[in-house]
Amino acid sequence: MMMMSCGIFKNFIRVSAIFSFVCFCRGFSPADNYLIDCGSPTNTTVGVRVFVSDDLASKFLSTQQSVLANSSSNSIPSSGDDSQLYRTARIFTGTSKYTFSISQRGRKWIRLYFFPSVFGNYNLSSANFSVSAQNYLLLDNFNPSTTSVKEFSVNVTSTTLVITFIPSNNSVAFLNALEVVSVPDMLITDNAASVNPSGKFEGLLFQALETVARVNMGGPALSSENDTLWRSWVPDQNFLVQKNGVTSVSKISAVRYPSGGATPDIAPATVYGTATEMKADNPNDNFNITWQFIVDPGFQYLVRFHFCDIVSASPNQLYFNVYIDSWNVAPDFDLSTKTINMLATAYYMDYVTPLSDKSTLRISVGPSVTLSVYPIAILNGLEIMKMNNSLGSLSGMASVTPSSTPSSKKNVAMIVGLSVGVFVAVVLVSVLFFMWRRRKVARLGHSKTWTPLSIIGGTSRTMGSKYSNGTTISAGPDVGYRFPFVAIQEATNNFDESWVIGVGGFGKVYKGILNDGTKLAVKRGNPLSQQGLAEFQTEIEMLSQFRHRHLVSLIGYCDEKNEMILIYEYMENGTLKSHLYGSGLPSLSWKERLEICIGAARGLHYLHTGYAKAVIHRDVKSANILLDENLMAKVADFGLSKTGPEIDQTHVSTAVKGSFGYLDPEYFRRQQLTEKSDVYSFGVVLFEVLCARPVIDPSLPREKVNLAEWAMKWQKSGQLEQIIDPNLVGKIRPDSLRKFGETAEKCLADYGVDRPSMGDVLWNLEYALQLQEVVLQNDPEENSTNNIIGDLPPPVNDFDHTNTSASAAPAEMSSVDDLSGVSMSRVFSQLVKSEGR
Ligand SMILES: *[C@@H]1O[C@H](CO)[C@@H](O)[C@H](O)[C@H]1NC(C)=O
Ligand SMILES: *[C@@H]1O[C@H](CO)[C@@H](O)[C@H](O)[C@H]1NC(C)=O
Ligand SMILES: *[C@@H]1O[C@H](CO)[C@@H](O)[C@H](O)[C@H]1NC(C)=O
Repeated sequence: MMMMSCGIFKNFIRVSAIFSFVCFCRGFSPADNYLIDCGSPTNTTVGVRVFVSDDLASKFLSTQQSVLANSSSNSIPSSGDDSQLYRTARIFTGTSKYTFSISQRGRKWIRLYFFPSVFGNYNLSSANFSVSAQNYLLLDNFNPSTTSVKEFSVNVTSTTLVITFIPSNNSVAFLNALEVVSVPDMLITDNAASVNPSGKFEGLLFQALETVARVNMGGPALSSENDTLWRSWVPDQNFLVQKNGVTSVSKISAVRYPSGGATPDIAPATVYGTATEMKADNPNDNFNITWQFIVDPGFQYLVRFHFCDIVSASPNQLYFNVYIDSWNVAPDFDLSTKTINMLATAYYMDYVTPLSDKSTLRISVGPSVTLSVYPIAILNGLEIMKMNNSLGSLSGMASVTPSSTPSSKKNVAMIVGLSVGVFVAVVLVSVLFFMWRRRKVARLGHSKTWTPLSIIGGTSRTMGSKYSNGTTISAGPDVGYRFPFVAIQEATNNFDESWVIGVGGFGKVYKGILNDGTKLAVKRGNPLSQQGLAEFQTEIEMLSQFRHRHLVSLIGYCDEKNEMILIYEYMENGTLKSHLYGSGLPSLSWKERLEICIGAARGLHYLHTGYAKAVIHRDVKSANILLDENLMAKVADFGLSKTGPEIDQTHVSTAVKGSFGYLDPEYFRRQQLTEKSDVYSFGVVLFEVLCARPVIDPSLPREKVNLAEWAMKWQKSGQLEQIIDPNLVGKIRPDSLRKFGETAEKCLADYGVDRPSMGDVLWNLEYALQLQEVVLQNDPEENSTNNIIGDLPPPVNDFDHTNTSASAAPAEMSSVDDLSGVSMSRVFSQLVKSEGR
């Protein structure tokens, strides 16, 4: 069977070669080609490529000790599939470096494979680390939540390439497999067209790039084996904003590559030979086909379009417009003029987008209206690549310290294998497959998403000797798991009342400890409460789907014996509220507060935009923002969450829930819920953080009782500094305070439409942090990878832009790291006893 399909594939290559002017059928042979199956005792063959064993690759790795843990290598399957690469991992507990000698300077792919699962004693789903290559920061505080391959390309101008892994405090870094492979020089040239202002962009050669999306319009997913440069392509269905009015066309054997033009290395014939086409029913139809992608704000993107006219009967019949966001980058585009009047000829064009504060990028094609031709538009393939910012970073606002001194900490790397049980699951989760599945889940709707995990299979972990026969916890890559009731009883000392850490409408929250020492927060629902049951299910559904490092993660649940128990990992530092007032905890610095607000904003932004339908939290408050041992913020408590409006509605009508003092007045008046209700509540949290007082304090004089009203009064009179937390007086730079105050004020606008989106809020808070930091950046010891160096980027984020970006609809799926960053982090919610709803 395998042989047969190989044969077909070869035939197809031959057929397409006959139709080509130039034959590239032998493919590209990379001068530098390092393929490593990390942690593996043996070489692993994937298609025609050999990923060498960890042993053979250890000569590239510096400053580490290796320990080979028990790995059940007898589970190696015989077929060649890149899922094999996920069986083993190398775990870095200290800064570690791979150094590769480079025989030919130029651009190199760096592909990092991650399978966040339980390896030996490590639960890698909570790993958090940074990765840099040369002077580029590729990943910053990265928490791989899903099985994924991160693809970067970096131009290497020296004779070595150093890739550095730095675990975050108290965490580890890991890697399942690594590729460093030469990229043909012609793939990325120095120039592209620039969008708004339209002109020429120069300087692509030395940009580091991260692949955000690589899409085969109208065609199937293509794996590394189908591509001469071992790239993966995904189908376009799930990026389409409107699935009506489009049709897929395929004519792969017709594709030709004229000399001097695109080659199969630019994109294979399986990409050029399929397209998504506008399906017009009559000559007056006029609509666009639009694809939407989630991107990180604050970066420029290289957008590559692949076109090939496989739809026309003769040349000069196909005219259409090509848009990036609202810019018509190729009005009345006539493919014939680009391909010397030959049909079915591969053609591509590159554009660089302007810096934007939006978290979505829309690509559209639509009929030309100026020329009276039958409405038609096509797109065959699309690539979106993130470009490094002025700090050399592809990830957030941090940068690589120019001369990073080796960590004095003892550096340890470990190799561990994965148990047999996981393998069934692993085979299913190559990155393409995973993305496909996740989208499908989103499409199926929320009610289908909480499957008892114990039947799915996954990493098996025994819960201590007592339960080791038969009772295992299986951790699928993106879902929590079902715990046996006895295990929870034991972990909570049989629901010991003295272990209660919180009480909410839903029931009590207990601290729990597993046999292996893992701390938990165990939320036990009151079995009699009907409302509780609905919220129990909502919370499992929500939490199983939403994985993000700034959202609390569910690690399991128990529904035995009519129990409704949710299990989260323990959040060491409790609620944000407890750090602001009333508990005697030490006061947080302004920077810490800003970072917490930024983290929480990221979590909410993800809820609002990460999926097809926006999810509205409905109970944003400082008691629902929890802090881990590093004071990293995570948004908790989805018991009240509701998915947002359908495309044609603008709000969800619902009974008012939420917490007094944080409630959006518009929501209260009209009982209509939008994401902007969360933005309002978040604005109240911002003032709470700044002023360190309760949002409602009846003991104060009348005009001070309600914090939102009180703070707005001072903000509007430009004297906000009069009412800030006394601990912060003199410690906030005026610019930072001004930005922060403006941001909070905008959030509290009376009408939702006037409030910024969470993405805009996030951007502005980051800017407020930079304004605070800019003065403190001269301590070289301290700045590691977290401080800003260099000049501030221009304030493209001002609120003047917010209306356009706020109108961007949530996209169906993302491939950016922040959206997938998961943490099996510790959580407990509803834990403040006095907190009512
Ligand atoms: C593993 O692969 C490397 C590189 O292809 C090769 O030199 C080595 O002999 C292989 N080792 C085994 C045990 O096959
Ligand atoms: C991709 O490659 C695999 C393995 O060679 C092959 O079975 C499959 O048919 C190819 N897919 C396409 C669309 O060419
Ligand atoms: C197509 O999209 C562009 C850019 O968003 C927009 O300006 C244009 O009006 C759209 N055309 C139609 C017919 O919707």
